[in-house]
Amino acid sequence: MSEDSQISTKQPLLSIENLKASYDESIILRGIDMVVKPNSVVALLGRNGVGKTSLLRSIMGLMPKTEGSICFNGEPIQELRSDQRARLGLGYVPQGRDIFPNLTVQENLEVSVSIAGQAGRDRLEEVYELFPVIKEMLGRKGGVLSGGQQQQLAIGRALLTNPKLLILDEPTEGIQPSIIDQIEDAIHLLKQQGNLSIILVEQYLDFAKAASDEFYILDRGSVVLAGESDDLTSGVIDKYLTV
Ligand SMILES: Nc1ncnc2c1ncn2[C@@H]1O[C@H](COP(=O)(O)OP(=O)(O)OP(=O)(O)O)[C@@H](O)[C@H]1O
Ligand SMILES: [Mg+2]
Repeated sequence: MSEDSQISTKQPLLSIENLKASYDESIILRGIDMVVKPNSVVALLGRNGVGKTSLLRSIMGLMPKTEGSICFNGEPIQELRSDQRARLGLGYVPQGRDIFPNLTVQENLEVSVSIAGQAGRDRLEEVYELFPVIKEMLGRKGGVLSGGQQQQLAIGRALLTNPKLLILDEPTEGIQPSIIDQIEDAIHLLKQQGNLSIILVEQYLDFAKAASDEFYILDRGSVVLAGESDDLTSGVIDKYLTV
């Protein structure tokens, strides 16, 4: 049986109930409920500082203190370490993309392949097809790539670990429009292939709406609105997202 066939199409891929999280004394998340269905893209929206990154970090097991339940593919994961969550199929591309600047592009990819083994190596060609610039730049140091190229490398690297849920924190932040289009195309292609869901934190709302099926809007640590992305109207955007 292949790994992919173990993913149920009937139950949610990710299901979060009453999630609370804090840093030291400050409470950041105040009881979040959220569901990510199999093979769907969820946009996580909200103004600066409302807790979007903290929610992603909670899903990955990177927050100092959390309460509530997080189930991945039907299994509770809230007690697992972040590396164990990664091995179950959670792939995380943090805000600000953390590639290794002093390693070449190829070496950056090798780090993921060394974790994922043959399954990762098997995906290299697919990553080159999604982001041709990665293949062109294999010999260059990660740090000399443009911001957009680094973002593509960060996403490509995460894909080599064969995630079932890919978590992207503001992939378009500070990058040029042509590369934003390429990242949007990549998200559509990945979705078409099936077997992958994506949580996308995004400030760029046209992109978020075009790339996602459903959305959640956070405000001060709570979900204030959720729905289908077709319903992200300018009225909703003005009310909850315009600064
Ligand atoms: N390491 C930390 N220690 C204490 N407080 C923190 C820490 N990181 C973030 N916070 C606070 O937690 C709150 C939520 O931050 P978070 O980064 O989750 O928001 P965000 O929605 O991702 O914001 P942005 O849109 O700016 O990325 C903010 O008030 C922030 O100041
Ligand atoms: Mg953030």
